[in-house]
Amino acid sequence: MPHILVFDSGIGGTSVLGHIQSLLPNAQYSYVMDNALLPYGLQSEQTIQSRLACLINKIAGFERKVDLIVIACNTASTQALAATRKLTSIPIVGVVPAIKPAAIQSKNRHIALLATPATSNNAYTNALIAEHANGCRVDLHQSTRLVALAEQYYWQQTLDLEKLNHELEYINIDKQVDCIVLGCTHFPILSTHLAQYYGQQVELIDSGYAIAQRVKYLLKDKNGDSNDIKMPLQFFATAPNGITNKEGIASSAIDLSC
Ligand code: DGL
Repeated sequence: MPHILVFDSGIGGTSVLGHIQSLLPNAQYSYVMDNALLPYGLQSEQTIQSRLACLINKIAGFERKVDLIVIACNTASTQALAATRKLTSIPIVGVVPAIKPAAIQSKNRHIALLATPATSNNAYTNALIAEHANGCRVDLHQSTRLVALAEQYYWQQTLDLEKLNHELEYINIDKQVDCIVLGCTHFPILSTHLAQYYGQQVELIDSGYAIAQRVKYLLKDKNGDSNDIKMPLQFFATAPNGITNKEGIASSAIDLSC
């Protein structure tokens, strides 16, 4: 039974974890969040690269051998995926904005990328757009407030709708846009509310399901079977949060300041 480690700055990666768990219900899971440094969207490329280098070191010391790492963070993936892959033989799947499917789907040939400041403004994302926008106009929008709202919604199950609407008004996506790429794994956590705000004529597209399919493909020879003993999800945080995740599992401390 494979052991999959899902990483994000905060709880955004749980939006990807959910898709992977549905496709691979028998796998073992660890979830690591670098909440000490949240939001990653305001960190430098160098800082993110060194946090991930440290994560790779820690994983080497894990009792349960990790078979695959998912960097369930667009910010970390677009800034540090190539550098991090060089540090380990464990396969790493990154999560990057779903520009290609959005560009294929857009009837108006006009899409928007909604991401963190670091993701919407880096060489990887520029190259992704140049390669896959397929002639569509791509508007770039950034927000860290949505990250904070998603964190609050996840942990406290309450959402300040006034703040959310205010932020969406401020972001001000063009009315001609018919596909919005949710280029931050925190944003699908708000998808019900985002869908209400943007209406049925706008498609919200994230990478979660495609990533789960990729993970399943890479682990096709290690699927395990339903008779194996299933360990509970292990949950690690870099800063004490004194709270449990949705499954009620308390987080263990992990130090990523190498
Ligand atoms: N969830 C992360 C992403 O996909 C980043 C959120 C943040 O820490 O800024 O980009």
